[in-house]
Amino acid sequence: RKRIGVLTSGGDCAGLNPVIRSVVLRADTYGWEVLGIRQATHGLMSDPPQATVLNPKDMNPLLTAGGTMLGTTNKGNPFAFPMADGTLEDRSEEIIRGYHQLGLDAMIGVGGDGSMAILRKLAQQGNWNLVGIPKTIDNDVGVTERSVGFDTAMNIATEALDRLHFTAASHSRVIILEVMGRDAGHIAISAGIAGGANIVLIPEIPYSLDKVCAKLKERQEQGKTYSLIVVAEAVKSVGGEAITVTDGGGECRLGGVGQHLSEQICDRQVADTRVTVLGHVQRGGIPSPLDRLIGSAFGVAAVDLIAAGEFDRIVTWQNRKVVSVAIKDAIAHYRDVDPYGTLVKTARGLGIYLGD
Ligand code: F6P
Repeated sequence: RKRIGVLTSGGDCAGLNPVIRSVVLRADTYGWEVLGIRQATHGLMSDPPQATVLNPKDMNPLLTAGGTMLGTTNKGNPFAFPMADGTLEDRSEEIIRGYHQLGLDAMIGVGGDGSMAILRKLAQQGNWNLVGIPKTIDNDVGVTERSVGFDTAMNIATEALDRLHFTAASHSRVIILEVMGRDAGHIAISAGIAGGANIVLIPEIPYSLDKVCAKLKERQEQGKTYSLIVVAEAVKSVGGEAITVTDGGGECRLGGVGQHLSEQICDRQVADTRVTVLGHVQRGGIPSPLDRLIGSAFGVAAVDLIAAGEFDRIVTWQNRKVVSVAIKDAIAHYRDVDPYGTLVKTARGLGIYLGD
């Protein structure tokens, strides 16, 4: 009887619990036991390791539960772990030992590209049998068209725009919605199109503040009394000035670019503006049906890879199928918004100002 581990690593997102459920239910069909590792690799560092047997009969509530029942962290790279005295220590051997102490035959790691790179290094160094599942609201993991968590985040950002339309219209305002996405503009462009934004600014396409203002004025001249702007957090300059914002993983995370944009538009007396920074709301809540579906498909496929003895692979979504690829290939190809792709063409075709 095999015993496999599952851990969630990096920032949480909606859809992680459906993945865990799927892994447990599929493993049960093989008669295997699944151990849930607490707090990503941190759970393996403690002695004894922090892990719980996941019982198939307890899994059903997980389908609709946000976050991750196992806990997670995006802090503490085991190869340069921050210690209490401020030094960095390599604690990889403790984590590797945890895997063997639990008697695991394989590990399913659910994470984004950063987590996958770390897990792969641990697996190689410690002789683990590793299978990966991609998750991130940023949707930036290479090769896979979708990562678990993106759809829910996009839905939340779209719903925010749906709500902002009414208040912007009532007050004849410009409302700026700042969304997450780390270094990529996937949430911004997808929600911007689905939520009827007039301007979408993403890091992949340079833009000009003059043209943003010209677009707002043009709309006013056309009798359109309000406008909605979506800006991705990774847009790092406004009107040619660089913006310094604490990056993901920092201790004090602040909204940034939306506020700068608002001030610049206001200074130019173009419109009355307001800013909404959506922040971690995008990571919470009930997983969307698509995230449940993809998470379930990934969970089953990951367990099947273990059954087939195929390791160092990650499951991906391609052309409506789950296809596994080498983890090293998935993390070598960062996926940002294609400036010549369908979404950019669609946005431009709808008259959305996206940059030049
Ligand atoms: O990678 C997911 C993400 O939510 C990014 O979109 C964002 O930049 C970052 O994590 C926020 O990190 P933290 O939860 O550490 O503030």
